[in-house]
Amino acid sequence: MEELKNRSKFSGKIGFVLAAAGSAVGLGNLWRFPYLAAKYGGGIFLLVYIVLAITFGFALMIAEIALGRKTGLSVSAAYKKLNRKWAFLGYISAAVPIIILPYYSVIGGWVTKYIDTYVSGQSAAAADANYFSNFISQTWQPIIWFGIFVLATALVVFFGVEKGIERVSKVMMPILVVLSIGIAIFVITRPGSSAGLKYYFVPDFSQLSSKTVLAAIGQLFYSMSLAMGIMITYGSYMKKDVDLEKSVHQIEIFDTGFALIAGLMIVPGVAVFSGSVENLNASGPGLMFQVLPQVFHNMPGGHIIGGLFFILVLFAALTSSISLMETVVSIFQDRTKLKRKTLVVLVAVGTFLVGLLSSLGFGVLSFIQPLGEGTSLLDFFDFISNSVIMPIVALLTCIFVGYVIKTKTISEEVRLSSRFREEKLFVVMIKYIAPIGLVLILVSSVLNGLGIVKI
Ligand code: TRP
Repeated sequence: MEELKNRSKFSGKIGFVLAAAGSAVGLGNLWRFPYLAAKYGGGIFLLVYIVLAITFGFALMIAEIALGRKTGLSVSAAYKKLNRKWAFLGYISAAVPIIILPYYSVIGGWVTKYIDTYVSGQSAAAADANYFSNFISQTWQPIIWFGIFVLATALVVFFGVEKGIERVSKVMMPILVVLSIGIAIFVITRPGSSAGLKYYFVPDFSQLSSKTVLAAIGQLFYSMSLAMGIMITYGSYMKKDVDLEKSVHQIEIFDTGFALIAGLMIVPGVAVFSGSVENLNASGPGLMFQVLPQVFHNMPGGHIIGGLFFILVLFAALTSSISLMETVVSIFQDRTKLKRKTLVVLVAVGTFLVGLLSSLGFGVLSFIQPLGEGTSLLDFFDFISNSVIMPIVALLTCIFVGYVIKTKTISEEVRLSSRFREEKLFVVMIKYIAPIGLVLILVSSVLNGLGIVKI
């Protein structure tokens, strides 16, 4: 248990929840959740997402955090310590942040660009329907902003000043939540919002398909930073007397609550400003950047609120990208002899080069549509990580916890700090429901992809 002593611990009871929530809350909530909800039928996506979050998401998060706290190690080492044969799971998990970081930074670049737009007083131009597509289809503009975002992330990681950013974002995050609630209230009190609200909240079961479920599972992993070893690392910093189950609930409520609010600003916003919800199924990664400028344009003082909003979003995005880059650097640190600072430079350059594909995918490379008509390279990287690799990691984690080290190993760890109130739910999810569900979903998505069946 040497490592355990040497690991610095989060201070106090709330410290862990704040740090884990800081990694969880980011563009996943603000950018990704709303466009997926719009695309996959609104209410039905919401329903599937919430049911999955309180059952499957809960069980997986408990398992990951407990694995980390028990071993005091980060992902690969944690699996290796519990069972040598399972070290490979650490390697597969490592692929996820490596794939996510580049395209996450492309979106981070879009956010940075919008700060510039508002600060330089172009809020009216941004509300134009073509502003966003004109921007992302260019070659250099998006690359420059994406480069700035990668540089900012890398500088923080290089100089090791994450603590400073964390302190700032502890102040910024609550402001972002309050501002988002205000914007959502403004949107839903506009005439014409009711069609959007109905679409967002009332499930239409005819839209339920394996694609909806797969999208919801992928979003769950992405938004809560699950199925990539992140929560194992966070768990390794958690004190033994912190109530693990309660912390998981707090992180889930915070993350899901914020995603719901973000959806509430954006989905009904479409109905208000385009007058219908009919084209929502065609929504893509640009939705937030197309809808919000229209909202701000119609809001008193919107040009200032818009600027403030995107600055706050930038901080939420930066805390996530910093934590992603940290993870990628530590993955290579464990496997090479290179110095940390050298690795930060290499990872930043690599991130930039790989991200170029996603950025150019909306412009000169837009003829590459790997997932079918109208999809982009960014959609492709997003799909591979969230809908293929993460479900596989989650499936293997369930098998590992349920049948190799057994669920009692986790239960014992949870009980160090409190009673395990939902132990039955946890055991049934990890051993039976989640693995079976994941296999069904993966198989049906492969068959769907090959065009063999339509489920
Ligand atoms: N959960 C983050 C968000 O909602 C994104 C994310 C995915 C992340 N994996 C991560 C952040 C790993 C930090 C570390 O935006």
